[in-house]
Amino acid sequence: MKAPAPGRGRGGEPCEADTRRSNGDANKLRPEDRVVHDWYRFVLSFPPHLVREYVERFGLSKDSAVLDPFCGTGTTLVECKKLGLASTGVEATPMAHFASTIKIDWAIDPDELVHHAEDMASTASDQLELDGVSDVGGPLFDRRTRLLRLMTLPAPAHDLLLTNSISPLPTHKALVLLGCLNRRPESAYRSHELLALARVLVFAASNLRFGPEVGVGKPKDDAPVIQPWLDGVKLMADDLRVVRAKSAVPAQTLQADARELSDLLEPAQFDAVITSPPYPNEKDYTRTTRLESVFLGFLRDKSDLRTLKQTLVRSNTRNVFKADTDDEEVAEHKEIQRLADQIESRRVALGKTSGFERLYSRVAKLYFGGMRRHLEGLRHVVRPGAQLAYVVGDQASYLRVMIRTGQLIADIADSLGYEVLDLDLFRSRFATATGEMLREEVVLLRWPGGKRRSARSVAPLRSAASKESRR
Ligand SMILES: C[S@@+](CC[C@H](N)C(=O)[O-])C[C@H]1O[C@@H](n2cnc3c(N)ncnc32)[C@H](O)[C@@H]1O
Repeated sequence: MKAPAPGRGRGGEPCEADTRRSNGDANKLRPEDRVVHDWYRFVLSFPPHLVREYVERFGLSKDSAVLDPFCGTGTTLVECKKLGLASTGVEATPMAHFASTIKIDWAIDPDELVHHAEDMASTASDQLELDGVSDVGGPLFDRRTRLLRLMTLPAPAHDLLLTNSISPLPTHKALVLLGCLNRRPESAYRSHELLALARVLVFAASNLRFGPEVGVGKPKDDAPVIQPWLDGVKLMADDLRVVRAKSAVPAQTLQADARELSDLLEPAQFDAVITSPPYPNEKDYTRTTRLESVFLGFLRDKSDLRTLKQTLVRSNTRNVFKADTDDEEVAEHKEIQRLADQIESRRVALGKTSGFERLYSRVAKLYFGGMRRHLEGLRHVVRPGAQLAYVVGDQASYLRVMIRTGQLIADIADSLGYEVLDLDLFRSRFATATGEMLREEVVLLRWPGGKRRSARSVAPLRSAASKESRR
């Protein structure tokens, strides 16, 4: 069933003008933006101030509807809701979809939430005490603990975890708390409490490190779970008190594949798109969110993982499947074919023969083919005149061959009839491997409506140098 347009027209706040930065701090969360955004967030989510900037530049008003087709942990949706704008998010990864859904649910009573969480924390602590396990370590950590059979995840779920990503004692504590939350499935507070648990699992209980790619650090024997979880719920409640007046501003999320938008959403309902899709850079969102996805039951076994990967844009070699056909979408695109050939030639020249390396050139084609399918379907759901902002980064992950992601997306969009308004520099960083600047850009597009002949179909892709001169 197609999702209806959310209701529109709520009181808005003035938009804040912002200064664009081109440094490494550009996508850090500013302290004043912590409210709600911080409930659960990808390490490199784009920052809320970027959303504010494009809401203002696009001249959006309280009657506008915004779409984020790759909404991740919901930065665009939360920011739109704060500004009084209706928004819709599409996200394929269930954990990220869950997080963004809860981050726009501001209707629950904060005092009741805290009351309920205190009750849950006390029940979980009592059970731990009986087991001889102390949440914070210390005297209770006694002989009984050593005799205790610690709770574990079912084997097929445990097998999905990155090795040593969480130690046995924190696992036991998290499962005890989860058991308490799951015994009250009808509770109005359970989803917020589960999201708070997801955050604690990653940032307090686990051995995970983000640099920004997820990895496993030195395993710690123990870590508190119940207390940091309760503290997190209390912070949520504080935030809810701040934003509650905006709880009626419409926002919705759909767990779906952004390459199939025209089957999913009613036609011509959005005035703007503000989004950050995946980049072709080997980042695997199913790994980044693996621990909490497994604990919260979104991934139970290998088959769940495989099904999820099939719904994602192919941005890394770990989610390529034999039957994939997105590459056919860009079979006629000379620059993408040249790029893929260059990656493959370099692989052969360097004598690289691993299974992953053999897939590099295919991923590049599958990625842009998937993005083309997305942009094609998007034309049906945006209104004529809609403005679009795509935050994407240049990449050199495949044998150091430079992939100018923003330029290529702009080129594909142009061939589909969008007007390419600009490529704004969001930030840049120097890639020592290639000696070149990697640009993170905002590709600005406009959908004119109807059929438009591509202005760039006969022109070659603009070079990086000519783009620089436009700044
Ligand atoms: C760069 S992240 C977006 C981060 C987001 N701006 C935020 O605030 O957290 C890209 C997201 O696209 C999602 N994704 C990848 N392929 C998708 C697809 N085919 N359909 C919908 N979402 C997809 C990933 O799961 C990931 O959450």
